Amino acid sequence: MTDDLERYILDHIDSEPDNLQRLDRDTHLRLLYPRMCSGHLQGRLLKMLVTMIAPRRVLELGTYSAYAALCLAEGLADDQCRVDTIELDDELEDFITEHLAQSPVGHRVHLHIGDALEILEQFDQPFDLIYIDANKRDYVAYYEHVLPRLRPGGFIIADNTLWDGKVTDPVEHHDAQTRGICAFNDLVADDLRVQRVILPLRDGLTIIRKLDNQQ
Ligand SMILES: C[S@@+](CC[C@H](N)C(=O)[O-])C[C@H]1O[C@@H](n2cnc3c(N)ncnc32)[C@H](O)[C@@H]1O
Repeated sequence: MTDDLERYILDHIDSEPDNLQRLDRDTHLRLLYPRMCSGHLQGRLLKMLVTMIAPRRVLELGTYSAYAALCLAEGLADDQCRVDTIELDDELEDFITEHLAQSPVGHRVHLHIGDALEILEQFDQPFDLIYIDANKRDYVAYYEHVLPRLRPGGFIIADNTLWDGKVTDPVEHHDAQTRGICAFNDLVADDLRVQRVILPLRDGLTIIRKLDNQQ
């Protein structure tokens, strides 16, 4: 997408709330790899999808600066609904809690510090929506662990599934992260338990729906 087209889109969609503008700026000033932050367009899409799906329980793997967690929380119907989000890097905890406190919906977000695959074992209630955005090498493992924890008819959204276009590079050029994303895409493409679609938005976003007859 050209810069002009991106500007045009951002000028014609819902504006980015002030607290998220501040969070985005702070992410660029204080954190490494600020490109990992979802940003205005993807953030508004996440909020829209949450509004459409109307989940009560949302799970996110990979919190980073909590930008996406807050967009997911914004879309929730009310304060009875919640987002559980898991982040491996404990050095992000202060940044995250500071920005959750500054958000009008921060109290809907519950942060868990640790490895997603370990923390996941603590949850026994099913989720309605799960956003996968942690280590690209482990997407297959995340998928297999979260699918049983998703209610029938529930949704998974997986980010970075086109991985900067590297998914179409010759296999011999693939690094570990590209291999992880390709294995995930192949698994989901052939999985009879779900429906799926890939949106070529930003770095690729796959939307997956667990079939109603799957437990
Ligand atoms: C792409 S960033 C997440 C961006 C965030 N979801 C957003 O859209 O604003 C990926 C995050 O996943 C975290 N991560 C990596 N491996 C993880 C793991 N095994 N468990 C939990 N988090 C992990 C990284 O530390 C990093 O902060």
